Amino acid sequence: MRSEMEKDILKVLITEEELQKRIAELGEAIYERFQGRRPLFLGVLKGSFVFMADLVRACQLKSDVEFIAVSSYENATVSSGRVKINHDLQQDITGRDLIIVEDILDSGSTLAFLKDYFLTKGAASITIVTLLDKPSRRTKAITADFAGFEVPNEFVVGYGLDYCQEYRNVPYIGVLKPEVYAG
Ligand code: XMP
Ligand code: MG
Repeated sequence: MRSEMEKDILKVLITEEELQKRIAELGEAIYERFQGRRPLFLGVLKGSFVFMADLVRACQLKSDVEFIAVSSYENATVSSGRVKINHDLQQDITGRDLIIVEDILDSGSTLAFLKDYFLTKGAASITIVTLLDKPSRRTKAITADFAGFEVPNEFVVGYGLDYCQEYRNVPYIGVLKPEVYAG
């Protein structure tokens, strides 16, 4: 397939084939855990949209799908990351078994915030699934119940993840060339 973005990619970290193989394993493991319980898959937008689409098809449970959109930003004077809800839940989650679906677990600020938020809203249980895990950057005591791949401390794009809203449609996980960040 022709690509306008390929020339910006320094290296491929995880190929399409590796992604699909691992997602099949995650789907199977989640099926095993939730069989007979009708969980609610809750995707964290925007980054999780590609992973969410593949994960729910890799896990043939009777289940529901929901999304929340958040953005995180660092307050210059406070070291902890702060999180803002841009698009809230559109359904009652009281008593539900949630499966939070994230693209990447980095500092942990986003998931620490969301976990509290969903418990406040009455979730019965919370399970965290992240495609990528960057444990070297963690500042919050958050661990994923299911993680696809551990990644090094590099900024990654593709498969839903962006740089300035671009590269989300790159079908693999890659690292950008330094000149792309330079402008
Ligand atoms: P925290 O620090 O809250 O981060 O765990 C979670 C969110 O930060 C974004 N993020 C990235 N986005 N490449 C990206 O495209 C990266 O390497 C990266 N690291 C963190 C992402 O939105 C994630 O949900
Ligand atoms: Mg995200």
